[in-house]
Amino acid sequence: MEKKDIDWSNLGFGYVKTDKRYVSNYKDGSWDEGCLTEDANIVLNECAGVLQYAQTVFEGLKAYTTEDGRIVCFRPDLNAARMVDSAKRLEMPAFPEDRFVEAVVETVKANAAYVPPYGSGATLYIRPYMFGSNPVIGVKPANEYQFRMFCTPVGPYFKGGAKPITIKVSDFDRAAPHGTGHIKAGLNYAMSLHAIVTAHAEGFDENMYLDAATRTKVEETGGANFIFITKDGTLVTPKSDSILPSITRRSLVDVASKILGMKVEHREVYFDEVKDFAECGLCGTAAVISPVGKIYDHGKEICFPSGMEDMGPVTKKLYDTLTGIQMGRIEGPEGWIKEIM
Ligand code: PLP
Ligand code: COI
Repeated sequence: MEKKDIDWSNLGFGYVKTDKRYVSNYKDGSWDEGCLTEDANIVLNECAGVLQYAQTVFEGLKAYTTEDGRIVCFRPDLNAARMVDSAKRLEMPAFPEDRFVEAVVETVKANAAYVPPYGSGATLYIRPYMFGSNPVIGVKPANEYQFRMFCTPVGPYFKGGAKPITIKVSDFDRAAPHGTGHIKAGLNYAMSLHAIVTAHAEGFDENMYLDAATRTKVEETGGANFIFITKDGTLVTPKSDSILPSITRRSLVDVASKILGMKVEHREVYFDEVKDFAECGLCGTAAVISPVGKIYDHGKEICFPSGMEDMGPVTKKLYDTLTGIQMGRIEGPEGWIKEIM
């Protein structure tokens, strides 16, 4: 199959329209059989639930070309399950998990010419989402929905790829206790836009959000979970009911403990202890693992010993193993890789 003429190595994290996307509609209590379409546009009633009350949830996963030329994706079953959790919290119908995974396969196959070649540094980002589509004016859930999935070839989320980034402790909160921080709802991202625009204007790459109730504990960033490495090489990941359960983070915990033989702690992390860690990084589908070199906290700086030039050595080992599994260089745990073609 002939690949599209794209400068793969210089792609940023942006939208490139591909050939086909998947659509299924929910009406009268059930989902239709769904199909691929070439139409990238959506026509909606002016009063659609998503437009009035932001009733929308989404997912993000990637497809990769392996060293031996296959196309695979990483743990799509976990994205399917998390989307069900997200939908339930916003009173939306679940999209069946097996159909979600089938739609991933169909959508990627139909756009195989856009899956970046092995070694290019780019990947195919897949964006499943669903939204309330019928008119809603009183505050209540819609009763018609659309599920869609498109894909777009992407490069690194942060400019500079694996170069350490600088983040700031945000004065804004991302998620309330007992709120929606643990699901992938569009509303969580809408309310983070002012915070990220502010952080960028001040010269920072991202925000570190603390827990809204006490502002003493590390939560996550706008689009990734944190990983920390202690001076004696333990992987520490923050635990909270108001952060998104990152599939990358859960996978790294297994990579660290089961493959690399590291000690792992998934626990509350107080901001006060962050200065004592040896390495810090962000992890997520888009972020992969992005090393953090510096954290700015209201006039004070935490500079990690790993510095601003390279990923720390333990972060690098985690990165190489995770991406090795994703790109087929390393055999991962059973069921992690879904073969597409
Ligand atoms: N946290 C937030 C807020 C995110 O948007 C994402 C991205 O999906 C993540 C964490 C990372 O999750 P995952 O590793 O499942 O992509
Ligand atoms: C992802 O990593 O898939 C996300 O949804 C994060 C987003 C900020 C791009």
